[in-house]
Amino acid sequence: MNTHVIAAPAMQSRTTVVFTCVLAALAGLMFGLDIGVISGATQFIQNDFSVSDHVIEWIVSSMMFGAAVGAVGASWLSAALGRKRSLILGAVLFVLGSLLSGLAWSPDTLIAARLVLGLAIGVATFTAPLYLAEVAPERIRGAMISTYQLMITIGILVAFLSDTALSYTGAWRWMLGVIAIPGALFLLGVLLLPDSPRWLMMRGRRDEAIGVLRRLRGDEAVVLREAADIEEQLRTPQRGWHLFLENRNFRRSVGLGVLLQLMQQFTGMNVVMYYAPRIFQTMGYDTAAQMWFTALVGLTNVLATFIAIALIDRWGRKPILYTGFAVMAAGLGVVGAMMHGGIGSHAEQIFTVAMLLMFIVGFAMSAGPLVWTLCSEIQPLKGRDFGIGCSTFTNWIANMIVGATFLSLLNGIGNAHTFWLYASLNILFIGLTLWLVPETKGVTLEQIERNLMHGKPLREIGR
Ligand code: BGC
Repeated sequence: MNTHVIAAPAMQSRTTVVFTCVLAALAGLMFGLDIGVISGATQFIQNDFSVSDHVIEWIVSSMMFGAAVGAVGASWLSAALGRKRSLILGAVLFVLGSLLSGLAWSPDTLIAARLVLGLAIGVATFTAPLYLAEVAPERIRGAMISTYQLMITIGILVAFLSDTALSYTGAWRWMLGVIAIPGALFLLGVLLLPDSPRWLMMRGRRDEAIGVLRRLRGDEAVVLREAADIEEQLRTPQRGWHLFLENRNFRRSVGLGVLLQLMQQFTGMNVVMYYAPRIFQTMGYDTAAQMWFTALVGLTNVLATFIAIALIDRWGRKPILYTGFAVMAAGLGVVGAMMHGGIGSHAEQIFTVAMLLMFIVGFAMSAGPLVWTLCSEIQPLKGRDFGIGCSTFTNWIANMIVGATFLSLLNGIGNAHTFWLYASLNILFIGLTLWLVPETKGVTLEQIERNLMHGKPLREIGR
């Protein structure tokens, strides 16, 4: 028995935990970098390869397709290989995908490179939150999971800024390729992570699991209690697919998770994430201004995430969602109206930018972080992996549809109607939240599960 570690002061174990979680949250940073990096590059890629809007849509959205496949694969990988090795694989794919994107010699190779990046993101977005939840002690778990969403937004901002700096020379290959550097740092960091104690227990490696818990927690009583808890939980086997076929109540919670992710994506947020410079172009701005306003979008997204972090356990989930959808509908509605009327003067341009930023605030303070939180709260324990897998898969497929249709919508129904379409969807989501979304603030997961399984209406499973 390692008495030295047992005696480790609480301070040291706290540092280990924070270090571990920060490292895993870097997965969020990589996710954000890859979401954000493409927006600044598309116009240069389009000029260089002389391709249509349709090909650009595929270059943007092949990544999301890869991510959907990666997320499904990761639920198997993270059980078979373990969380740590899945994250290592994700990191290696990040580096390879970034290098290949920078070197791409044709639109097809670029699409293939973005597919590889997507696989990396799918693996990382499934595995990192799982790992975080398994290594963070109860009292800091919420904060650690919010850190993850914050890291996504910071990654997007950093990518927008790096794109802006490189846009003066139109160096799109550098924009895409430079992400290999944080990718390599992420790989180094992940190599230092301990294995997840829960996964070690799942594989019957109890002694190793206890060893990791000692390094993370320091206090022997806590270590033994947590080891016993994990063993107890593992007695509830995961039987997602069977449960889905035979239990109507579980089908309802899976359906709700899928619906929540559809709502998050069809707010239209990623239209701005992927095509912001193009949107600013339609408002009449030149390339430099387009890039700086895109960076401002990224900054607004980071800052407004703090509103969600501050309010989530005070206001509760539903009031934040209503507010967010209403703000988004108003922002997009006005942007559409301005585009309809024609944006002529400088004042009109600035006003339209402000309305777009208001839309970003609406998303970042609500659907962005909250949907991920709700999706992990509503699934019963024995179907949790399956349920979260289904909703994450939906997130990426819907993300792909949004990315793959925006330019076609602009060309087909026009700028104003495209924005009005997304504004109307946000109004619809207020109604769906009222009708179907439960309030889960301050309720234990066990209570939510009991209510769900007793057949209470979905909007009441948090009472
Ligand atoms: C969403 C992403 C989005 C990001 C923006 C996340 O919660 O899932 O699709 O790009 O927020 O901050």
